[in-house]
Amino acid sequence: MTPNTFGAHLDAPSVIRTKRDGGTLSDAAIDWVIDAYTHDRVTDGQMAALLMAIFLRGMSGHEIARWTAAMVASGERFDFSDVGRPTVDKHSTGGVGDKITIPLVPVVMACGGAVPQAAGRGLGHTGGTLDKLESIAGFTAEITKTQIRQQLRETGAAIFAAGELAPADRKIYALRDVTGTTESLPLIASSVMSKKIAEGAAALVLDTKVGSGAFLATEAESRELARTMVDLGREHGLTTRALLTDMEVPLGRTVGNAVEVAESLDVLAGGGPDDVVELTVALAREMCDAAGLDAVDPAQTLRDGSAMDRFRALIAAQGGDLEAPLPIGAHSETVTAPRGGTMGDIDAMAVGLAVWRLGAGRSAPGERVQFGAGMRIHRRPGEPVAAGEALFTLYTDTPERFASALSELDGAWSVGDQAPPTRPLIIDRIT
Ligand code: URA
Repeated sequence: MTPNTFGAHLDAPSVIRTKRDGGTLSDAAIDWVIDAYTHDRVTDGQMAALLMAIFLRGMSGHEIARWTAAMVASGERFDFSDVGRPTVDKHSTGGVGDKITIPLVPVVMACGGAVPQAAGRGLGHTGGTLDKLESIAGFTAEITKTQIRQQLRETGAAIFAAGELAPADRKIYALRDVTGTTESLPLIASSVMSKKIAEGAAALVLDTKVGSGAFLATEAESRELARTMVDLGREHGLTTRALLTDMEVPLGRTVGNAVEVAESLDVLAGGGPDDVVELTVALAREMCDAAGLDAVDPAQTLRDGSAMDRFRALIAAQGGDLEAPLPIGAHSETVTAPRGGTMGDIDAMAVGLAVWRLGAGRSAPGERVQFGAGMRIHRRPGEPVAAGEALFTLYTDTPERFASALSELDGAWSVGDQAPPTRPLIIDRIT
C-alpha cells in the first residue's frame, strides 16, 4: 500500500475486492482508481477486474455520480457558451443501424443550433458514429479545440473524438468493448454523461434504446438508465431530457459503416427509411426545444435541402470528400426467402453481431474496422416477400467471415403468413 494524493492508502486489489464482495466504493477510492487508471498506475487487467465486479454487483446512485464526476475531472471541460448560437447535443445509448447522429446534426444546424458532438467508436454489437463517418474519404474526427470552436461559430457543428474530454472514459470504453462489460447501467450512464458533461453543450437529449439491440435487457432497466442520466446531467447544470426508443429491430435498411452513411445521405436528400426520418425529426424537435430554438421546423430542413447543405459544409470543414465513392466490401453474400409471405421481426442484436463479425467492429482495442463491412436489409418487418427474393445482403473484404456472420442470423428472422405486431418507435419521454 502506498499513500496517494487523495490522502488515503489505496491500492487496486483492495478496491477490486471491495466491489467483488458487494461493498460500496468510497469517494476516495473512486477518485483514486479513475485517476490512477487514467495515468497508467492501475493496469488494464486490474481495471478489467474492477469493471467486471461493477458489472456483476452494480453501483449505488451516489457511486455512479462520483464515478461520473471523477471521469469528467480526468480531463478538460470545454465551455462553448461564447459561440453565438445555442449549443445542444444528443447521445444514444447504442443501437443497431443507429446512424441518427449523421442526419440529425445537420438538421439542428439548419434550425440555428450549434452542435458540439463528442462521438464514439463501435462498442460491442453496436456501431460507432466515428467509424461510420471515417468511411468518408479524408474525414477526420481528430480536431483541436480551436477548430471545434471555429466550426461551431462558422459552420454550426463539429463531430470529434472525445480526445482530452473524459480521457478516463476513452480508456474504460475501449476496455469494456473487449472484456464483456458493456451491458452495465452504471458503466453506460457514467460513460455517456462524463463525455457529455465535459463537452460543453448547454443542453442534451439522450436517445435511450429499449429492446433486443439495446445494451440493457428490459424496458424497466432502460427507463432507469434514462432517469439516472437525466439526473446526472441536471446535477452538472446541463438541461437534459431523454427519449426511450424502440431497438427490437435494426433502424433503417442498412447496418455497418459506409452503408449507413449512404442511407443517411438518402435521408438528407429528403428520402430514406421512414423510421430513420421519424427518429431524426423527433430528436431534432427535442433538441430545438431544449435549446429554445423554434423558428424552423426540423422536418422542413430535410425537404428543402438546407440540412444537406449544412452536412456538406460540416464534412468539408473536417476534410471529408463527399464526391469520392463510399467503400463497400469486396465480397457479398445474399440471404434469400425460403417461401413467400410477410417479413417477420428481425432481431437487432443478431444483426449487430453479424455485422460485427463481418469486420465492422473490433475484437481487440485499437483494431482497424472495415469501412465497407455491413448489411443491407431488403425487406423490413411487415413487408411482403416473394419466395427466392433477396432479404439480406452481407458485405466484407474478408470472405472467411461469412460463415460466422450467417450463423448469427440463424433464427433471427422469419417469413410468415401475418405481419408482426407493430410497436411505437418513440416509447416515452423522460424529463
Ligand atoms: N455510449 C457511450 O458513450 N457509452 C456507453 O457505454 C454506451 C453508449
